[in-house]
Amino acid sequence: MNIAYLLKPKSKRRSEALKPTQSLPFGQIRTDHMLIVDYEDGQWQNARIIPYGPLSISPGATVLHYGQALFEGGKAFMHPDGEIYTFRIDKNAKRLNKSAEILCMPSIDENFQVEAIHALIDVDRLWFPIQEGASLYIRPFMFATEDSLGVHPSKSYKYIVILSPSGPYYPAGFTKPIRLLITKKFHRAVSGGTGESKAAGNYAASLRAGEFAKQFDASQVLYLDAQNKYIEEAGAMNHYHIEKDGTVVIPEFTDTILRSITSESIIELQTSLGLKVIQKKVLLDEFIEKIKNKEIIEAGGFGTAAVVSPVGEYVLEDNTILTVGDGSIGEYSKKIYTYYTGIQTGKIKAPYGWLKKV
Ligand code: PLP
Ligand code: COI
Repeated sequence: MNIAYLLKPKSKRRSEALKPTQSLPFGQIRTDHMLIVDYEDGQWQNARIIPYGPLSISPGATVLHYGQALFEGGKAFMHPDGEIYTFRIDKNAKRLNKSAEILCMPSIDENFQVEAIHALIDVDRLWFPIQEGASLYIRPFMFATEDSLGVHPSKSYKYIVILSPSGPYYPAGFTKPIRLLITKKFHRAVSGGTGESKAAGNYAASLRAGEFAKQFDASQVLYLDAQNKYIEEAGAMNHYHIEKDGTVVIPEFTDTILRSITSESIIELQTSLGLKVIQKKVLLDEFIEKIKNKEIIEAGGFGTAAVVSPVGEYVLEDNTILTVGDGSIGEYSKKIYTYYTGIQTGKIKAPYGWLKKV
């Protein structure tokens, strides 16, 4: 008996497709169902797909006090054949377990995660948004539920998946380059901490910096390492820049940078893209000099929600503006965006195993 059958809910399903006129801000709309699995007595159990709705957890649950929680973010796309395909969701499942290890939480079988996510999408398939550029955002998460005020790993957890028909993360999508703030005032992660994981607390800790960025009209902060020497990543995406010779540079992954599946995919696609993509430590001073000298001609962010988000300018704390190239979206970023989204949406042949039909 397969998981999809076991998880088949008796509740009502949507009976008509989502209207293409529906506006789709990122992450605001929910589908009708969610997947829940409980971790009790040392094992995952009672997997179920039930109507989306409030949860009941104890006020003493450790997640509410000490923040033992993590999440993932994946996407599914509709292809020209009318079928829905998840994109590299096995990589999300694997990274969820890496985050779980960092946060002393239990791992959950990766094949199970993939199959259960597929079963959930199948139940809510009529929620798929068919607008150009839209996708079904997949949000798995896990949190600690033990009612206990001692600071120790919880004995019980919930793994939940919700879905959100979504448009692009930045409202202007790929059409308008964003501005990032480079600040030495706030940091996202330190070595030996949780930066490499998708710990919920990393995002809580980034809110103050995000609010600060708004004072500079910037969408996000481009974080530096704790010594303010190297460029690391932004709050919700990895960073890239492109040198005059067309080389794409992504800061080397360390334990303070999330291993972006988008970055890893662009690295794997470099031959078909006809671009050289390298990872190395990026010195802040050098980066700034190269932007000023126009030796860096394009820059931006890579991420599931952000996809490819070109950066038109950086702002420093003293309000200095650094314009990348002429501030518009460059040809290399366009090429990466078109190729990458072409693969996700089934217009360009994907490497084996990247797309899985629901
Ligand atoms: N860096 C951070 C801090 C993120 O939250 C994300 C989003 O998941 C990324 C990078 C991009 O990772 P991915 O491409 O796997 O979505
Ligand atoms: C994603 O890109 O999926 C993320 O998890 C980023 C999120 C903070 C919006």
